[in-house]
Amino acid sequence: MTNRRDKQNSAAEKANPVSAVTIAGVRFGNPVIAASGTFGYGSEYADLLDVSRLGGICTKGLTLNPRSGNSGRRIHETPSGLMNSIGLENPGIAAFIEKELPRLRNLGPAIIVNLSGSSVDEYTDGARLLDETSVDMIELNISCPNVKAGGMMFGLNPDAAALVTGAVRGALRHKPLMVKLSPNAPDIAAVARACVSAGADALSLVNTFKAMAIDIRTGKPVFDNISAGLSGPAIRPIALRMVWELWEALRTPAGKAPARPVPIVGAGGIAGAEDALEFLMAGAEAVQTGSATFVHPQTMIEIIDGIEDYMTQHGLSNPGQLSTRKAAFQGSVKTAGT
Ligand SMILES: Cc1cc2nc3c(=O)[nH]c(=O)nc-3n(C[C@H](O)[C@H](O)[C@H](O)COP(=O)(O)O)c2cc1C
Repeated sequence: MTNRRDKQNSAAEKANPVSAVTIAGVRFGNPVIAASGTFGYGSEYADLLDVSRLGGICTKGLTLNPRSGNSGRRIHETPSGLMNSIGLENPGIAAFIEKELPRLRNLGPAIIVNLSGSSVDEYTDGARLLDETSVDMIELNISCPNVKAGGMMFGLNPDAAALVTGAVRGALRHKPLMVKLSPNAPDIAAVARACVSAGADALSLVNTFKAMAIDIRTGKPVFDNISAGLSGPAIRPIALRMVWELWEALRTPAGKAPARPVPIVGAGGIAGAEDALEFLMAGAEAVQTGSATFVHPQTMIEIIDGIEDYMTQHGLSNPGQLSTRKAAFQGSVKTAGT
């Protein structure tokens, strides 16, 4: 435990304290986090960028037992986007804890583990194992569109989302729980409220959009699974709109659900500092970057530098000041009530 704190402190010292953020009790040296599934377990990128400068690293989706992932084509590029059908290939949680976590912990940034499963029991058994480790936060993946059972099926419906969120929250004694939402849900605000009522400490959005491509030489879908998840700049304006709306939805009671604003982590096509600033201005406390790292591994470092430069130029002392929505929202509530 002491060891872990020492390492966290050294990462925080390296970071510019101006852009540090605390989300659900976890300190990130800056608000830029490597998105799940796009950064391996961190050390794979150590030769390409200074990984210790990142605010956080989110692991590939992990399941209780190892999975080999989907058959056939797994990646397909589209204009301004990327489709993937990886299918949660991973070594299983026990092997992650034994082989990957010590290396990942040594890199410095806060560690988020993306947890997936096919059943509520699989999620809770995995959560119990991770709860006894040095990881900083669990990101509950109820939004993967590339698996046949579980995954996104839990994230489309508020009752199913609340069931798995409540069960995992109950299984965790030490770690904060962030729930990763699906942009494919018919009512993402209803799913978000249900997760928050069931105990989510933070929300992240978005995972990939369900999409497809056909190979016109064969007339058949490119992916064995037919559909795949779309990410990259193509989804950015939609993801931004969802973050904007969710920020307000969490502050607006609906039906029997009380309003409980939890921190939001925004993702979707962020490829530069200006993109990240838009999400932070929309109310996100931090951002995740995924697909852009494949194109240009230094992207996240440039985003961190760009956010810090913007803050310095505008005399801001923490990233929370980037969002002017708090004051505007309080103003609009007042107006509505008078
Ligand atoms: C190749 C690939 C693998 C991914 N794997 C996961 C995963 O295991 N778990 C998860 O929650 N999201 C996964 N995602 C989604 C990303 O974490 C992110 O939410 C999404 O790609 C949007 O961000 P981006 O446009 O910056 O890539 C994956 C995305 C890609 C491109």
